[in-house]
Amino acid sequence: MKYASVTDRLADLGGAKWAIHYRARALKAAGAEIIELTIGEPDVPTPEKLLQAASAAMMSGRTGYSNGRGEPAVVAALAARYTTRRGREIGLDQIMYLPGTQTTLYAVLRTLVEAGDEVLIGDPMYATYEGLIAQTGARMVPVPLRPEHGFRMQAEDVATRITPRTRVLFLNTPHNPTGAVLRAEDIKALGELAKAHDLWIISDEVYEDLVFPGVTFTSPLDFPDLADRVVAASSISKSHAAPGFRSGWCVGPAEFCQKMLPLSETMLFGSQPFIADMAALAVSEPSPVSGGMAERFARRAGLIARTLDGVAGLRVHQPQAGMFALIDVRATGLSGEDFAASLLERQQVAVMPGESFGAGLHGWLRLSLTQPDDRTVEAAGRIASHAATLLGNAA
Ligand SMILES: Cc1ncc(COP(=O)(O)O)c(C=O)c1O
Repeated sequence: MKYASVTDRLADLGGAKWAIHYRARALKAAGAEIIELTIGEPDVPTPEKLLQAASAAMMSGRTGYSNGRGEPAVVAALAARYTTRRGREIGLDQIMYLPGTQTTLYAVLRTLVEAGDEVLIGDPMYATYEGLIAQTGARMVPVPLRPEHGFRMQAEDVATRITPRTRVLFLNTPHNPTGAVLRAEDIKALGELAKAHDLWIISDEVYEDLVFPGVTFTSPLDFPDLADRVVAASSISKSHAAPGFRSGWCVGPAEFCQKMLPLSETMLFGSQPFIADMAALAVSEPSPVSGGMAERFARRAGLIARTLDGVAGLRVHQPQAGMFALIDVRATGLSGEDFAASLLERQQVAVMPGESFGAGLHGWLRLSLTQPDDRTVEAAGRIASHAATLLGNAA
């Protein structure tokens, strides 16, 4: 039978990147004691107040059809939140509420690009971005994010990759997997390029509330001169430890939202009113869990660095936000994939190979910061001893 070409474009982009994670899960199911530092699930449960709000809404009959833009209460709550946080008026007609950032980004890209277009995106990148772009038929153009710039995208690296076909500059701040947070001056320089070449800016800000103590988050939405070309997406998945609720949104120009609406209606026919009610409550108040997560994740990144930075040539990149730390294992001579595979077999520690996040992390590992401190330190110690063994340096 024949299938649409999108199935080929996406074929290698889904599960293949997570092979080590699935292998770790299989070993665990077979009884092995594995320290799992692969995926980034929040380390606390969804706040009880939100669970109660969702179940009360469900019990009160909020189970009917919704609409393609989002329930009025959550749209109003998001408009108010963005107006306060971004310091300029964000109207109700500038919000689209959908099931999660992932779905939102799918629809946003579908609204903006198609075959023949090019999308500029930082490399390394979150593992699903390649598929998100590929589904549209547009071409992904990686922009190297360099460790010497703290993995923050630099305008000069973007400028040399702009062509007449470029339509979108896709940003992710705070960034997964590097934990980089773009500075106001980075965004200003990138914004100048976007204006000069009439590009859209998509900004995935799902880790906004997980910025580490002392670090300031800046959004492209903060720049009024970019208002007609910025679409920012986020969700309650990370900020409220609620990824299973699939509750996200985007904020963009009113005309953009109007253009995206039929797509959202066609894809979803609306999302769940009882979850929208819970999300409205969530985004109206400061998150009760994000500050604690940010503190713990920052502390664990520090613990990892203290345990293994410099051991057997390993280098730890300190994140400024998010749920992950990066380790440069190139001194061992192995790729991230080979290091991660042998680490899992010999030390029962599961980490993601950097290669799953783009060519820019060849020879790196990504560690999730969501395991308790003692398990994190234990895992870091095993990684150090594995590297030392590989180099023949074991004591
Ligand atoms: C950078 C980034 N964007 C989007 C997502 C998906 O978010 P959501 O659960 O809101 O779909 C993730 C999840 O890990 C992520 O790391």
